[in-house]
Amino acid sequence: MTKIGFSPMPCIIWRKQTNAPNKFMGSGTLPSGAYVTLEHEYILIFRKGHKRKFIHDKDKQKRRESSFFWEERNQWFSDVWFDLKGTVQNLTEKETRQRSAAFPFGLPYRLINMYSVKGDTILDPFFGIGTTMLATMTGARNSIGFEIQSDLIDYSIARTKKVFPILNKEISKRLDNHIEFVKNRENQKKKLKHFNSIYKFNVVTKQEKFLFFNKLKNIKFNHLKKEFNVSYFDAKNSFFEKEKTLFNWER
Ligand SMILES: C[S@@+](CC[C@H](N)C(=O)[O-])C[C@H]1O[C@@H](n2cnc3c(N)ncnc32)[C@H](O)[C@@H]1O
Repeated sequence: MTKIGFSPMPCIIWRKQTNAPNKFMGSGTLPSGAYVTLEHEYILIFRKGHKRKFIHDKDKQKRRESSFFWEERNQWFSDVWFDLKGTVQNLTEKETRQRSAAFPFGLPYRLINMYSVKGDTILDPFFGIGTTMLATMTGARNSIGFEIQSDLIDYSIARTKKVFPILNKEISKRLDNHIEFVKNRENQKKKLKHFNSIYKFNVVTKQEKFLFFNKLKNIKFNHLKKEFNVSYFDAKNSFFEKEKTLFNWER
C-alpha cells in the first residue's frame, strides 16, 4: 500500500462478537495448556494522497450534512471497537454468512460515515453478499463492488430486496440514540449549546447543526446492468416516521 502511495493511519481493533459454546479449547478450567481465542480483527486505514479539502460551498454543505453526532465521534474514533451489532445481519441466514464471511452491517456503515460524505463512491473489491453496498445505500453514498464467486451475486440481490425495507431502522436508531443522549445530558444539567433545526433537537457542536440523514424511499434493480438505483427522502421528509419503502423489481 505504501509503495503505491497510500499513507498508513492508526488502525482499529474490532472485537468480534463470538458466542460459540466451544470457543474455549483445551482442558476446561484447568491450567495450563489452553489457548486464548482469537476474537478480534484489524481494520487497516490508509489515506490516498493528501488530506481531502472541501473548497466550494456546495462541497462544504455536503460535508456538513454528512456530519455525525459528537457522541458517535467519541465512540467511533477510538482504536478499539467493542459494540458492533446491527439489525441487518440478523436477517441473513447464518450459513450463508459463514460461507461468505460477511461482517456486521455496522462495520462498513460506521467506516463509510467516518471517511466519506454523501454522494461519494465507495469501491468494494470483495463484494461477498453486499453488506458494504447496503451500508453505502443507507449512508446516501454510491458504490461499486467486485465479486469473483458469481453464485453470490444472485443471493446478494435477493438479500438486498429482503433487507431494504429495514435499512431506515438503522437511521432511526441513530436518531433515537441521540435523543436518549440529549435526555441524559440534560438530566445531568449539562447544556447542549447548539440546535439542529432540521430535527429540532440540541447538539453538542456547531458542526452538527446541519446534520441530516436521507431516509431511503425506493429501490430499483436493473438486471442488465446489475445496478441498483435508490431514491431518498429529502431533509423535510426524513423525520422519525417509519416511511414505507418500495421495491421495484425490474427485468
Ligand atoms: C470476506 S468476504 C466479503 C464479505 C463482505 N464484506 C460482506 O459482508 O458481504 C470476501 C469476498 O471476496 C471475494 N473475493 C476473493 N478474492 C477476490 C477477487 N480476486 N476478486 C473479487 N472477489 C474476490 C470472495 O469470493 C468473498 O466473497
